[in-house]
Amino acid sequence: VKAQENIPMLDLKQQYLPLREQVLEAFTRLFDSGAFILGKEVETLETQLAKYLETKYAIGVTSGTDAIWLALKALGIGPGDKVLTSPFTFFATVSAICNTGAEPVFADIDSKTFNLDPEKAEEVLKKEGRVKAIMPVHVYGLPAEMSAFKKLSEKYGAPLIEDAAQAIGSTYHGKKVGGLGALGCFSFYPTKNLAAVGDAGLLVTQDEKLADTARLIRTHGSRVTYYHERLGSNLRIDAIQAAALNVFLPSLDGWIEKRRQNAEVYNRRLEELPNLYDIPKTPSTSRHSFHQYTIRVKNGRRDALHKHLKDRGVSSMIYYPVPCHLQTALKHLDYQKGMFPESERAAAEVLSLPVFPTMTTQQQDYVLANLLSF
Ligand SMILES: Cc1ncc(COP(=O)(O)O)c(C=O)c1O
Repeated sequence: VKAQENIPMLDLKQQYLPLREQVLEAFTRLFDSGAFILGKEVETLETQLAKYLETKYAIGVTSGTDAIWLALKALGIGPGDKVLTSPFTFFATVSAICNTGAEPVFADIDSKTFNLDPEKAEEVLKKEGRVKAIMPVHVYGLPAEMSAFKKLSEKYGAPLIEDAAQAIGSTYHGKKVGGLGALGCFSFYPTKNLAAVGDAGLLVTQDEKLADTARLIRTHGSRVTYYHERLGSNLRIDAIQAAALNVFLPSLDGWIEKRRQNAEVYNRRLEELPNLYDIPKTPSTSRHSFHQYTIRVKNGRRDALHKHLKDRGVSSMIYYPVPCHLQTALKHLDYQKGMFPESERAAAEVLSLPVFPTMTTQQQDYVLANLLSF
């Protein structure tokens, strides 16, 4: 038995150590300039991220949640409209829909990928009128089946919004996610693969008109100071977050590569225990960025494993214990248990393991030893 260790889900202090001086220099520069709203750092970030994400436009915003809300507003979605999404996502996907006045409608997930199932989505599209947008979520960093969703989008005249909050750098058929539909939304919440030093997010699009509308809404519908041509809000990314992100962005691909290597090691070792765990399977269409490495724990033993690991100093997380349709906040929509069985089963069986880029071989061996001995 190895000595007890403490393995976190993420070690940002370690990850940022080599960039510490660069970040502090950027902050000093910004502080001395006094330009805290938009300005050069934000412009640089938007240019670099548009390039990285292979999109024509990138718009820095306050958070991933606001990026989704802004995407919906840019499409003119509001009261009386419905938006189709996955019940197995972080609740922000759904609350952003509700906060436009629209209603979320759900289809179940695919049991293998945890992502919205296009066939089940089509059943809902056939049945529901007024679905004004389809929002697949690239859960854990694994791209949803975008070819199928593109077809559905065309067939039912509902634009695609990608909730790519967890999936920066992931690719689908060789193309970066985010720019595959009408609009794509990213989060730079501090646990994400590309993380700010607080809240921040991004909206991307290939469409000039949508980009223009989104930029307008981001600053109170105003092109000329104190003249407002439409209603909007204040959704600008902070310059200080942009300054930090400009320092971090060049390291992103290296961090993702480390995550992928760590995932590969888990896969190789956990494959030996098919009766205990299902390991994540990446379809050949996709390059997974492993924002999370998430297994399914069989035989109703997820919570026991979670505790087993915790008792031995290994962090693990349940993303997400309650699917959105069963959240108290959506009680008024009258969804019942059993309506989306795969999402409910996932909520009961998933466990995310530490896969962070600075995890050492020794740390991962310790996690694995405890998974193998369970
Ligand atoms: C799938 C998903 N959507 C939306 C969000 C919201 O992003 P933020 O926390 O930046 O508002 C997150 C992350 O937190 C997320 O994981």
